[in-house]
Amino acid sequence: MRVLIIGSGGREHAIGWKIKKDNPDAELFFSPGNGGTKDLGENEELVSIEEAKNFAKSQGIGLTIVGPEAELVEGIVDVFKNAGLKIFGPNQKSAKLEGSKAFSKEFMTKYGIKTAESKTFRHFIDAQKHIESLEEFPVVIKASGLAAGKGVVIAEDKFMAESTIRKIMVDGVFGDAGKEVVIETFLKGFECSILSIFNGSTITPFITAKDHKKINEEDKGLNTGGMGVVAPNPSFTEAHMQDFTKNILIPTQKGLIEEKMKFAGVIFFGLMVTENGVYLLEYNMRFGDPEAEALLPLLKNNLLEVIKDSIAGKELKLEWEDQHSCCVVMASGGYPGNYEKGFQIRGLENVEAPLFLAGVKQTNGKYYTDGGRVLNVVGLGKDLEEARNIAYKNIQKINFDFEYYREDIGKSI
Ligand code: AMP
Ligand code: GLY
Repeated sequence: MRVLIIGSGGREHAIGWKIKKDNPDAELFFSPGNGGTKDLGENEELVSIEEAKNFAKSQGIGLTIVGPEAELVEGIVDVFKNAGLKIFGPNQKSAKLEGSKAFSKEFMTKYGIKTAESKTFRHFIDAQKHIESLEEFPVVIKASGLAAGKGVVIAEDKFMAESTIRKIMVDGVFGDAGKEVVIETFLKGFECSILSIFNGSTITPFITAKDHKKINEEDKGLNTGGMGVVAPNPSFTEAHMQDFTKNILIPTQKGLIEEKMKFAGVIFFGLMVTENGVYLLEYNMRFGDPEAEALLPLLKNNLLEVIKDSIAGKELKLEWEDQHSCCVVMASGGYPGNYEKGFQIRGLENVEAPLFLAGVKQTNGKYYTDGGRVLNVVGLGKDLEEARNIAYKNIQKINFDFEYYREDIGKSI
């Protein structure tokens, strides 16, 4: 079967790796892909949804898998389906659960899904009045639209809250993504990522994961796309799982069905676990990055079959290795701010663990840095400690100028 994977990150490399591992005969195409996906199939530069659709038609692509949120929110699934092409991901209406925080909060409230209390604003004056009336800080301010993971600000006091809404709603730092703003209660606890697959009627969850979003050790500094993930999440208990299932998963499933949001794709629940139980912070309607890199090596099922079954509306039964994983991201020094690229990456051939390239370019068989998050090394072990040791032992074998990674992935829990 010919499979097209849309995206350019470590997530797309991991999806391709898993499909190829289980289905050596599968022919993979990536758009645009990266220096790592080039070793699994062919990289294509399909610059629009229309071009991707025409490519899929002319090349006999049997299945398309969409990595990033932007194309989903733009409606790639609807376009492919209307052209009679098989595609895995939410339609445009359902992708709005990620593309608009105002919309997803409305959905959560309507279906009684446990989430932080919030209000949505379209005018600066109203948001300002609301902030004036607040007594408790910090408060969380979110640009409603897609803002490349930068649209959430935790404002420590009234002054910071006001200046934040001014930047978003008056100065327009996030462009159209900041036309609506959600202001919500700050929740204190630890975070957990639960990915799942929806087959149009049932949500089947993956094992849990723990992302490390901040650039510096001890979760300090700026937010990033994710500097490492461990799975399962060691702090998430069976009681938390029951709480999540009852108060978040089941009402989400009910809401999707009632709203006729029927699709086959991933739903990624971003959770905050507090003293008062599990809260839903957000929906992502795609595989997480680097959650996919940590989770897919632990999945026993054939991913291609799982995806095909979910598109056919069949019930899924996911099985997982009885192991732990620890994915550590190597980044370009300076990320998530400015950084230089184009440095040769050496030692990749010595790595003895799943290795997923992200911001990497391949030229004449050599690999060069080409982005902020450069690559992911995934340690697998009988427990978290073993997984961590394997990941960090292999990280030592790789080097490039100005490399940076957190040394406490899986430790700061
Ligand atoms: P979101 O895009 O909504 O997941 O927000 C990005 C990050 O901001 C989350 O991963 C949390 O670290 C933080 N965050 C979002 N909402 C809240 C909240 N209500 N309370 C505390 N932290 C939050
Ligand atoms: N790692 C978080 C995300 O993919 O959004």
